[in-house]
Amino acid sequence: MKIGVLTGGGDCPGLNAVIRALTRSAIAIHGAEVVGFYDAWDGVMDDRAIPLTIDAVRGTLPRGGTILGTRRGGPYDQPDGVRRVKETMRVRGLDALVVIGGNGSLTVASRLHSEEGLPVIGIPKTIDNDVVGTDVCFGFTTAVQIATDAIDRLHSTAESHDRVVVIEVMGRDAGWIALQSGIAGGATVILVPERPFDIDVVADLVRRRHARGRQASLVVVAEGATPANGDFPLPEYGTDHIGRPKLGGISVAVAHEIERLTGFDTRVVQIGLVQRGGTPCAFDRVLCTRLGLEAVNAIVEQDFGTMLAVRAENIERVPLSHVQGKTRTIDVSLYQQVADVFFG
Ligand code: F6P
Repeated sequence: MKIGVLTGGGDCPGLNAVIRALTRSAIAIHGAEVVGFYDAWDGVMDDRAIPLTIDAVRGTLPRGGTILGTRRGGPYDQPDGVRRVKETMRVRGLDALVVIGGNGSLTVASRLHSEEGLPVIGIPKTIDNDVVGTDVCFGFTTAVQIATDAIDRLHSTAESHDRVVVIEVMGRDAGWIALQSGIAGGATVILVPERPFDIDVVADLVRRRHARGRQASLVVVAEGATPANGDFPLPEYGTDHIGRPKLGGISVAVAHEIERLTGFDTRVVQIGLVQRGGTPCAFDRVLCTRLGLEAVNAIVEQDFGTMLAVRAENIERVPLSHVQGKTRTIDVSLYQQVADVFFG
């Protein structure tokens, strides 16, 4: 049996842990050969890969990033991309391709299976936690902990100086990191893409808190949050190389407005790529190990065109077609309950 594996999209903690578990299981239990493609789909199209041996994955369980490298974009963005993917798989005699990626890579995997009949298995990863069909994506729990640690640290300095601090976290169109780190860190207000916000309401909450004698307000804002009614302009930074708007920077505009409306000294912290870097937490290491092992089981059973999904305590398989082109957003009723009780 020959297995190819790639990591696509933005990196996240735990990618190496999946690669390691998959490689160990494939070789030790099934005597398989495993190759890792460099730089996501680019490596498949160009046929650039390394043999993944037990030695090659030794020591990688706690390592952040991906030993294979990653890129955004894929074969459908290139005129003969799909042909080149098929050619590499044919020449190498691959029995399966494991795609560890977020919505973009999983959509490519789904199409390659449904339109070209390729034997693919998807594993959802992303700190954004926005893949449908799974309760959680690996990397998310680590990112929430990093953001929560940052919020905890910012509390003390904000209190000492009687400041408002606006903390910006990632998540694109989903407010998962903002909501969970905001709850865990006891934020004054949490702003998410799913609920456009009114900056006057935010300013009121901050004022009311200060009027009660509290010395600091921490406002957690997701990078993709938007002001209701276009209340104030957001910075625009154009698009990235695959045409997505470049996010990041909303915190500066929000902080400016809060300071203007309240007169309180307001500072900005963008946690940015720190959320994606470094070692996975214990929960993610265990989850990634289980996903790597289960990917090999799915290949042995030839259950192709599926994505491994966390459902309650189990890892189940869902059709990739159910995931394709969708975004999983937060539970707005939980958001509202938190807002009612804790904001301000
Ligand atoms: O991986 C997802 C993500 O972290 C988003 O939250 C963020 O908008 C995006 O990646 C940033 O992308 P890049 O790494 O390409 O700047």
